[in-house]
Amino acid sequence: MSRRPTLISPSILASDFSRLGEEIRAIEAAGADWVHVDVMDGHFVPNITIGPEVVKAIRPHAKIPFDVHLMISPVDLHLEAFRNAGADWISVHPEAGPHLNRTLRRIRELGAKAGVVFNPATPVETAEWVLEDLDLMLVMSVNPGFGGQSFLTSQLKKIERLRSIIDKAGADIVLEVDGGVTVETARLCRDAGADALVAGTAVFKGGPAAYADNIRALRGA
Ligand code: DX5
Ligand code: ZN
Repeated sequence: MSRRPTLISPSILASDFSRLGEEIRAIEAAGADWVHVDVMDGHFVPNITIGPEVVKAIRPHAKIPFDVHLMISPVDLHLEAFRNAGADWISVHPEAGPHLNRTLRRIRELGAKAGVVFNPATPVETAEWVLEDLDLMLVMSVNPGFGGQSFLTSQLKKIERLRSIIDKAGADIVLEVDGGVTVETARLCRDAGADALVAGTAVFKGGPAAYADNIRALRGA
């Protein structure tokens, strides 16, 4: 089966926030495909991170696409601000608003690619009714809110199920996995059918001199 090479999307949640611009330049130079931005509001998830102003400030530091993961509720109010800040891919949790289909359509209307995120307990069926409005499926392999957690192997079955939904529909949808991705779990994700991997700890460990090796190791897993 011919598959596209695994995309690596480093989560800047694990980077040095006092040097964000430099960190983004460093991961781009180290071969990252995307930049994963974790946006948390202290309400939908227990942690607070960054907002659109910060995304706007760091956007000029890289040319690769920004993969923005919104863990905020209600989410609709903020889509435009993140798009204007330079988000290329915008992913939302179905639990973050009352009308998932409308939210996804709005993201595309704004000119971004639309993604839906599956919490560990979110059923795969959610995707089947919005397939035509989707560019990305993001499977959470941890409970969202923090970096550095352990990979939930229960989610491998979900990756397999979503892979088969995408393939059966012949849809052009990227299947991405987020949380606890290491060289070991990257291989499991890949075997289960993932196209793209988010990794925070596994990319940023060891500092800038290690980023290229860390990314290569994940991609080759
Ligand atoms: C969790 C975030 C993840 C997280 C990944 O809520 O969505 O992107 O930062 O971090 P690691 O790779 O350290 O699990
Ligand atoms: Zn994320």
